[in-house]
Amino acid sequence: MSNKMWGGRFETGPDAIMEEINASIGFDQRLYAQDIAGSKAHASMLAAKGIIDKADAEKIVAGLDTILSEIDAGDFTFQRALEDIHMNIESRLAVLLGPAAGRLHTARSRNDQVATDFRLYVRDTIDTLDAQFKDLQKALVEKALVHSGTVMPGFTHLQTAQPVTFGHHLLAYVEMLGRDRGRFRDARARLNECPLGAAALAGTSFPIDRFATAKALGFDRPTANSLDSVSDRDFVLETLAAASIAAMHLSRFAEEIVIWTSPLTGLLKLSDRFTTGSSIMPQKRNPDAAELVRAKIGRIAGAFSGLLMVMKGLALAYAKDMQEDKEGAFDALSTLSLMIAATSGMVRDMVPDEKRMKDAAGSGYSTATDLADWLVRVLGLPFREAHHVTGRIVALAAGRDVALHKLSLADMQEVEPRITNEVFGVLSVAKSVASRVSYGGTAPKNVRAQAKRWLKQLDKPA
Ligand code: ARG
Repeated sequence: MSNKMWGGRFETGPDAIMEEINASIGFDQRLYAQDIAGSKAHASMLAAKGIIDKADAEKIVAGLDTILSEIDAGDFTFQRALEDIHMNIESRLAVLLGPAAGRLHTARSRNDQVATDFRLYVRDTIDTLDAQFKDLQKALVEKALVHSGTVMPGFTHLQTAQPVTFGHHLLAYVEMLGRDRGRFRDARARLNECPLGAAALAGTSFPIDRFATAKALGFDRPTANSLDSVSDRDFVLETLAAASIAAMHLSRFAEEIVIWTSPLTGLLKLSDRFTTGSSIMPQKRNPDAAELVRAKIGRIAGAFSGLLMVMKGLALAYAKDMQEDKEGAFDALSTLSLMIAATSGMVRDMVPDEKRMKDAAGSGYSTATDLADWLVRVLGLPFREAHHVTGRIVALAAGRDVALHKLSLADMQEVEPRITNEVFGVLSVAKSVASRVSYGGTAPKNVRAQAKRWLKQLDKPA
């Protein structure tokens, strides 16, 4: 049998392989709520403009509500022979209403329908992700406030560089997530135009009101070019690009968690709730959640580049290639959601080992820069000379295998005779971080001020 929806000029139905490669119902059934919302708005508009009967429109809307509850309740049989979510719903509507159902597809096409559904879906997903990002930021800020004065080693090249505070380190991620939220917000603002009514590609001869359907669906306005309306997937690409960057941030943080929880550093403990054991080595506490957060960026960036390849070189307007926009995006966006949830859980439960952090912060001559700065500030040495003098003092300490502050004043004066006892005041890690008061610096009082600024901002209603 040929297809009920478009089989008028066909004699036989599709080959099984044709059906298999063509069907999207296996994945686009996720769009059912958006598809029904779009159809309801369309039917009401058609009636308001006198294009279909009010009575038919009412029946259609009621029928669509019935279908929505059937699908919500798991009482709906999706059929692969009906290809996609649009035709599955329309075909069920025909069973419920008879011929009146056939009026719904006046002045629209699956091309503008799917573009509308997917925009609505991505918009909803961005809103959910934004709430999750905000929750993660809150977890980080609260932890940062508790640890505004907890000293830890700061790294460059993963080599101990200068002491920083744990709170300061956590707030770095709050900044990143703030930019991530901004990128999603920007993408959302650009996607919020309604393609419905562009029909197959050229618009329609029916006197439709695209402004009304756009408004009913919460869009700012209708899209302005019918060809662009059905062939554009920028809104998916932008969202996946934002998701890839956000996932990269979470991956970096996850890597740090892996390093910090390794017995090699022992800087951090994760809770039992976010660690796993080994089936053979009873002592193990593996940071699996962090490792998976570190890894899952692969599928998100993969979905982004996959869709970019699908869209590349596609002549206008709609082509079936574009059906390949969904699976990767669905997977990527739900993966990101899980990554954020796991990261929030780890952050809320994580406990730094403050003693180990402080000891590690003081190792590797991390206050050498403080010594050089002291030579500049107090003795008036040019920085380059101070750097050289400090280097010789570090070499002296290294030769004796002691920390900088364990050298005697006489030892230091051998290198630079004008050094006084006052120098010991800057060599401790606590003094070092407390002195970094430049805007954006790691001093505990800066960290507290930044954390409070963020808390205020996060508590503001959206
Ligand atoms: N399932 C299709 C998709 O996801 C819907 C649009 C189909 N349009 C068409 N002309 N065959 O892209």
